[in-house]
Amino acid sequence: MNADKFFRTGLISMRLSITENASDKPNAQRDLRAQIIAAYSGVIRAYAFIRFKIIHLRFLEEIEQYLPDHGTILDLGCGFGLFSLYIAARKPHAQIIGIDINDPRLQIARAAAQKLGITNVTYERGDLRAWRPAQKIAGAYALDVFHHIPVASGDALLRDLFARLEPGGRFLLKDIDTQPRTMLWFTYILDLVMSPRDDFNYRSAGAWQRQLRATGFAPVYAHFLWDLLPYPHILLICEKNQLDADRGARG
Ligand SMILES: C[S@@+](CC[C@H](N)C(=O)[O-])C[C@H]1O[C@@H](n2cnc3c(N)ncnc32)[C@H](O)[C@@H]1O
Repeated sequence: MNADKFFRTGLISMRLSITENASDKPNAQRDLRAQIIAAYSGVIRAYAFIRFKIIHLRFLEEIEQYLPDHGTILDLGCGFGLFSLYIAARKPHAQIIGIDINDPRLQIARAAAQKLGITNVTYERGDLRAWRPAQKIAGAYALDVFHHIPVASGDALLRDLFARLEPGGRFLLKDIDTQPRTMLWFTYILDLVMSPRDDFNYRSAGAWQRQLRATGFAPVYAHFLWDLLPYPHILLICEKNQLDADRGARG
């Protein structure tokens, strides 16, 4: 094949594969999201629908791409299990463990997993102020949970997660920034409706980054996930650097 033909064929196949990926992947993810919503009933189905609007495909794709394909992944404060089901279905070779303090939510999560035939996810009751994983973990994420936990307990949890994370492993923390204030107030009212007995401990994006770096994570990236919805979302992507872990093990 001459060079000209090679480049032209290469470009065509590249264009084709981009087109395929652009159309197939979001459809598969949309279908999966719809199946997960349909696995719940009544008010929880409505909640799942709204929650998937708030943390929509773009966020999910981002969260998914930073998590490993194998090993144990923790969903801290998994609630009704929406996102653990999504990640489990997208990562069939990983084992997802969802932790939450709320037993009825865990029962609903287990029933949804059974209905969907998703077997690589389990749910455990745990209070994140004291609960710690028994094993080494390949990755972990916490979606809108840390602000439900007192700051000192949250910091202790971060330190212990860091210690149990395998070198090169990632921890994703999605929470609420404290700016703009109007958005924070909006989120606070929704939090009060969903969890009227909780205290809320919101931290600024800067405070989160400082705390995560002090815990040992490096690098720590902050992604402000703003869109049309009035939430000051922030996603912190934290890595347990392989070199630091090696140095720690030697020292
Ligand atoms: C805003 S919901 C988020 C649920 C889920 N991550 C999601 O994004 O749909 C917060 C969750 O944190 C859980 N939670 C609050 N305090 C907790 C604690 N101390 N230990 C474990 N889970 C807790 C609640 O039961 C609730 O399911």
